[in-house]
Amino acid sequence: MRTPLIAGNWKMNGLRRDAEALARDVAAAVTASEGVEVLVCPPFVHLDAVGVVLADSGISLGAQNCADAGQGARTGEVAADMLVDMGATHVILGHSERREFYGEDDGLVAGRYRQALEAGLTPVLCVGETLSERDAGQTEAVVAGQIRGITDRLGADSLGPGVIAYEPVWAIGTGRTASAEQAQAMHAFIRAQLAGIEGESAASARRLLYGGSMKPGNAAELLAMDDVDGGLIGGASLDAGDFAAICAAATRD
Ligand code: PGA
Repeated sequence: MRTPLIAGNWKMNGLRRDAEALARDVAAAVTASEGVEVLVCPPFVHLDAVGVVLADSGISLGAQNCADAGQGARTGEVAADMLVDMGATHVILGHSERREFYGEDDGLVAGRYRQALEAGLTPVLCVGETLSERDAGQTEAVVAGQIRGITDRLGADSLGPGVIAYEPVWAIGTGRTASAEQAQAMHAFIRAQLAGIEGESAASARRLLYGGSMKPGNAAELLAMDDVDGGLIGGASLDAGDFAAICAAATRD
């Protein structure tokens, strides 16, 4: 049985007081959700403050990236063990905004993934196709390539405790969501790919999140799909009430 995971990706939003206030509101709003793991990923500079607010809340803390090397001469990067030191347990890697705006490719993401695992973080690896790739019929090839981008470099058994977030780029921040059937089809595809790489039992235990304009109005339908084990939530995670409603929708009886 895969425990659903609802992860809030706060992206580059909020000053410290905003982050603290949002964390307080989230902690107050989601405590009622049982059987669901809840994670929030604030910007690096707010990890410490948000961690203080979330202490004893049962809500996990994650970062939005980590360096592909250990501490040292990497100006502007943050090493994975520094994130652990801040109380982070998870890290988002390979988000499409990193790939698009900062040129991150599979090789770099694999390096980051390795560092995350070595530090004891659980990676949340983002994969997903652009609209033009979907229109060109390349969706499956792109997503399979992004997964193999890690396992070809690090090894077939290298995913560790990692979670995979399927985020079609055309659905991120656009208000356009993949239908529950589209999401399920891709999640089933991803699980089949994983089975071919790491074996049936590891693949069937691995959590697969959907991301891309998930909100209270569509969460229940998406989360009801067999292979959708949670969500990576951007915009709606900035509203504690919406985020809590999505967490509630993930509760399985
Ligand atoms: P969104 O973002 O929910 O605002 O579409 C999701 C994400 O980018 O992780």
